[in-house]
Amino acid sequence: MANTATLHLDGKDIQFPVFTGSEGEKAIDIGKLRADTGYITYDDGFGNTGSCQSKITFIDGETGILRYRGYPIEQLAEHSNFIETSLLVMTGELPTCDERNNFSELLTQNAPLRQGLLRFIESFPRDAHPMAILSATMNALGAYYPHLSGINHQSDLGHFDEAAAIAISKVRTIAAHTYRVSKGLPFNYPKPKLGYCENFLHLMFSEPYAEFAPTPEVASALNLFLLLHADHEQNCSTSTVRMVASAGANLFASVSAGVNALWGPLHGGANMAVIEMLKNIHADGDDGTRFIAAAKTGKGDRLMGFGHRVYKNYDPRAKIIKASFYKALASLGIKDDPLLNIAMKLEECALNDEYFVQRKLYPNVDFYSGLIMRAIGIPENMFTVMFAIGRMPGWIAQWREVASNPKLKIYRPRQVYVGEPLREYVLSSLRK
Ligand code: ACO
Repeated sequence: MANTATLHLDGKDIQFPVFTGSEGEKAIDIGKLRADTGYITYDDGFGNTGSCQSKITFIDGETGILRYRGYPIEQLAEHSNFIETSLLVMTGELPTCDERNNFSELLTQNAPLRQGLLRFIESFPRDAHPMAILSATMNALGAYYPHLSGINHQSDLGHFDEAAAIAISKVRTIAAHTYRVSKGLPFNYPKPKLGYCENFLHLMFSEPYAEFAPTPEVASALNLFLLLHADHEQNCSTSTVRMVASAGANLFASVSAGVNALWGPLHGGANMAVIEMLKNIHADGDDGTRFIAAAKTGKGDRLMGFGHRVYKNYDPRAKIIKASFYKALASLGIKDDPLLNIAMKLEECALNDEYFVQRKLYPNVDFYSGLIMRAIGIPENMFTVMFAIGRMPGWIAQWREVASNPKLKIYRPRQVYVGEPLREYVLSSLRK
């Protein structure tokens, strides 16, 4: 196979190297295009642009493949858990027992928040969006751990395990404390003996008079939700993290930028949109039939939580989370919930109706994860926060990949300027 691509431009042939990734993805290296020709490529939204070489996550959207560090998501979902998978994503290898235990110890040590951070969270208005608080507080960690937010990546990488544990452990405490403050409830201290997910649910829902103990099925559904969101290659928030990291920014500043990108409704908001849609259908006195009929005309609203930009045949994460969702529901004794009934109707129709089948519009991971969050009692405005907790190891891994690149260059895309051509300044007294 040719290892160059030829571009015929302005009467000349220019050769560019072609290379292939470890799963056969082909790329044309246009790194010298501008220097050699004066041209740049134009790719609105970067849909055809590989912004980096990465060893973390492989996705094949056509065949529904998702792998972290080479391991199929199905195997990780069956045998691993969120923390072990986080270590895999961040370090490249499944941890040994000692590595796993050491990291758990770091998570335990770093679960509480300094008093100043507690007060910082409490200083926001009660109705502030939790993503605003999460982003600000993750960024503020840089102020509390100056030895982890140095002036260059090399010094930060020397303390990588500690920084990663702080980010992964504290994101959960920050999220829970934000919720407690919004409800006017007292702070719960993390419990060293609890696992990551159980501890999060305790931080959220324990009361001074009653400790919250989730059913094993609920804890396991949450664990799976986080694991399935751990990374998803170069999406908007991940690309943001890498962009910020490329400027030499520390881990906390970089993941805080990721939180901001995820906050955008086109990115992290789909699971919330599912519940909004179900509520609207219910408020209209519809069981889903009218909504589906309208969606099929192309004029009504789309079915939120159906279809995917990348996964064109099925979303492998949805397949995995679906079973866990039903187990969690059964353990909570939830049977006849009106929104759930509508959701099941939509699911059934979409899986059997020719319109949806033909267009390969099946329920995606957000469809089930929105329903799981609701069943657990997570408020809707925290759904995106839950996504951020899950995505934290992926952002950290991507930050590390950028920070440890010896040939690192600051990311600097070009543009095609289409504004006004050169014009002369006009004094304000002469302007019409
Ligand atoms: N409900 C009803 N019809 C739909 C839906 C839907 N959710 N999604 C796509 N269609 C229809 C379109 O109207 C179009 O029909 P046509 O061929 O008759 O014109 C056809 O399916 C293809 O639509 P596209 O927009 O080209 O599909 P694309 O793959 O680009 O869109 C997307 C993917 C944006 C996710 C879309 O399916 C959607 O809007 N889903 C609902 C929102 C959602 O759940 N998003 C979470 C996914 S997260 C992510 O993708 C990053």
